[in-house]
Amino acid sequence: MDFIKWDDSYSVGVEKIDSQHRLLMKLLNDFLKEINQAGKEEMEALTKALLNYSGHHFDMEEEFLKRHPNIDFHKSEHQKFVNRILSLREDLDNGKNISGDMASFLVSWLNDHILKTDKAFFSGIDEAETG
Ligand SMILES: [Fe+2]
Repeated sequence: MDFIKWDDSYSVGVEKIDSQHRLLMKLLNDFLKEINQAGKEEMEALTKALLNYSGHHFDMEEEFLKRHPNIDFHKSEHQKFVNRILSLREDLDNGKNISGDMASFLVSWLNDHILKTDKAFFSGIDEAETG
């Protein structure tokens, strides 16, 4: 069972971004299936993968959106995501079980950010311009 499933309502209208969002959802679904069995090492590996992949993805989005008048707001949402993952990693280092917090944060962030912020920002961008 998938916890979060792609449908066209998630599309921001730019294929390169959509395909990365689909991949993020796949990572998230794979992770949520394992979460109850995941130990400290798996959670460490996941936070690392998330930071790496989201860093790359956010850089690409911000490059596409660099001339958008509210780009700073968009960047601040990306930064909040990174900060939250970093603070969960700190909890993990301190011996806390972060599985539940991590799962609910990721699902709600992905839904909120893609459906609201990304869609709003990309709707003002011409696909030709984003190449
Ligand atoms: Fe974004």
